[in-house]
Amino acid sequence: RQAACWLGLSLLLSVAGCTGDRSILDPAGPAARDVRLIWWVMLGFATIVLIGVTVVWLYAFKPRNVERTPAQERRIARRWIIGGGLVLPITSVTALLMFGVPAGQRMLPLPLGEPPEVIEVIGHQWWWEVRYPGAEGGEVVTANQLVMPAGEPVDFHVSGADVIHAFWVPRLGGKIDMLPGRVNKIRLEADEPAVFGAQCAELCGVGHAHMHLYVEAVPREAFDTWLAARQDAELSELATQDTTHDVAREAFATHCASCHQVAGVSQGGVGPNLSDVGSRTMLGAGVMAMEEGAVSQWLQQHQTLKPGNRMPAHDDIDTDTLDALGAWLETLTP
Ligand code: CUA
Repeated sequence: RQAACWLGLSLLLSVAGCTGDRSILDPAGPAARDVRLIWWVMLGFATIVLIGVTVVWLYAFKPRNVERTPAQERRIARRWIIGGGLVLPITSVTALLMFGVPAGQRMLPLPLGEPPEVIEVIGHQWWWEVRYPGAEGGEVVTANQLVMPAGEPVDFHVSGADVIHAFWVPRLGGKIDMLPGRVNKIRLEADEPAVFGAQCAELCGVGHAHMHLYVEAVPREAFDTWLAARQDAELSELATQDTTHDVAREAFATHCASCHQVAGVSQGGVGPNLSDVGSRTMLGAGVMAMEEGAVSQWLQQHQTLKPGNRMPAHDDIDTDTLDALGAWLETLTP
């Protein structure tokens, strides 16, 4: 009965893993459907192998009273080695490869009639830089949020800024390494507008588990609007129009500007671009939800919320100034 309980519990747990925004078993695009198909075929194949091995293993315990000469024993052993050790693995692995390689090929960005949207994603310790080089009116840059058009293929050009990271949106397709000094490409498509979870899938240091990416697929029109609102001129106006945040802007110039870029205000390129930070749903690459007062809280507690992150603690800045900074950054909402 105990065994049955454990079996039931593990089945329940595995079923619990079948949905959710990071489940490969709940695909939302063609590449992910290929991944799911391969997963099920592999599982079926592995089950057949498990049953086969168990049957042979049990057969070995069968008592028998046959006398065999050493030559006969050798012949039988050879049959098992050639059959079970060579022919079976070669044929089964070849069959799986013939099935899996074309699926992998379909995820490569081979030439299409109409060149798709290109989005560059660069992994940093421990955040995501996202660039839209093809945006009408000039390149758009953001961080820790990836907005893409739904219902059409998108080519992702990924790389790493410091160490190896991996780009993985489980409901859209397989993972791909982000290597410093090299650009890897993967073609993904979201069937419908939706929000997807994504996660760095390569151990990249102490903040690896806190390297989430918010991915949102939106209709093409909404995507174009989203991009247009993030043009440099629009963002510059956004950051400078409001004159009630002088304290914050002064503090920003002293403490933040050399690392962070805010269009129209600063050019820092070390940490995430903050030009549209107020419009993001998460802070700290998915560590906390964006809501009123969240930026100030993040500025005060970020080393507790995300231990080891590259931004120094702000013990030297008083709380009122951090509150002012947070309030200003939250207004950066295109
Ligand atoms: Cu970046 Cu793990």
